[in-house]
Amino acid sequence: MHKFKVIHTIKEVRQCIKEWRKEGLSIGLVTTMGYLHEGHKSLIDRASEENDKVVVSVFVNPIQFGANEDLNTYPRYIERDAKICEEARANLVFNPESKEMYFEDAATYVNVEGLTTGLCGAKRPGHFRGVCTVVSKLFNIVTPDKAYFGEKDAQQLAVIKRMVKDLNFNIEIVGCPIVREKDGLAKSSRNTYLSVREREEALCLNKSLKKAKEILTKGETYSDKIRKTIEEEITKVPSAKIDYIEIVDSLSLSPVEKIEKSVLIAIAVYIGKTRLIDNFTFEKEK
Ligand code: PAJ
Repeated sequence: MHKFKVIHTIKEVRQCIKEWRKEGLSIGLVTTMGYLHEGHKSLIDRASEENDKVVVSVFVNPIQFGANEDLNTYPRYIERDAKICEEARANLVFNPESKEMYFEDAATYVNVEGLTTGLCGAKRPGHFRGVCTVVSKLFNIVTPDKAYFGEKDAQQLAVIKRMVKDLNFNIEIVGCPIVREKDGLAKSSRNTYLSVREREEALCLNKSLKKAKEILTKGETYSDKIRKTIEEEITKVPSAKIDYIEIVDSLSLSPVEKIEKSVLIAIAVYIGKTRLIDNFTFEKEK
């Protein structure tokens, strides 16, 4: 029978993991901040296919939010999250309180340099330090064989891969494709903030990237041209405010002027007060 549990303490997680390891079972981890949607579910499904046991962490990590960000309003619904996890055949949901994860006198943080200076890192100081610290802690608590991250957060995926390499975590990082709504909007827990009108306007993110992909496929190689195309499409929507449009090398994440190999085209746009991100990777044919 498929066994499923929601637990709140590190001790209980370790107990479970110990028993699974005794039986020689493989373990997959999906880290989330909850309010799960099809994007998260695709990660859990993949983890269930590739591992004997799957752990999903649901934790709104306070240290990755900036002072003016949405920590307090971030949507939470653990009962529904648990149901989604169970249906996706996860075995364990780890849903700790903040005080379970962080000692009052915590003084150790994980910081990946270089890769975190641009894109979201430039706009959200301290964000990736918070992400890398909590993900390291979750890796140490769960000790998974594989951990699953979405390409929706492309910079996060690149940063985590580098952290795992640099710190010798014995964990395989699996990147999973972006899951979208039928009309193209990338699924996000933050989409719930959008009014009906904003929801419609939010389509400009994906639309602008589609236009960029079109001209790239036709042979455009100048980043400036691509950026302009994206900008034109987004500025058609009066309530949209561009946070960044970046064309970067997909491995180093450093800006690229002329497109010669694999690039990441990533954007962040405010629709009203809601900050949304989207991206795609373009491989130049040789
Ligand atoms: P969260 O935003 O909840 O996302 C959890 C995981 O789901 C991330 O790996 C993210 O990339 C993936 N994901 C979200 N939306 C997706 C979509 N539309 N398609 C595919 N994957 C998607 O990212 C975080 O939480 C946090 O920073 C975390 C890593 C949990 C650390 O706190």
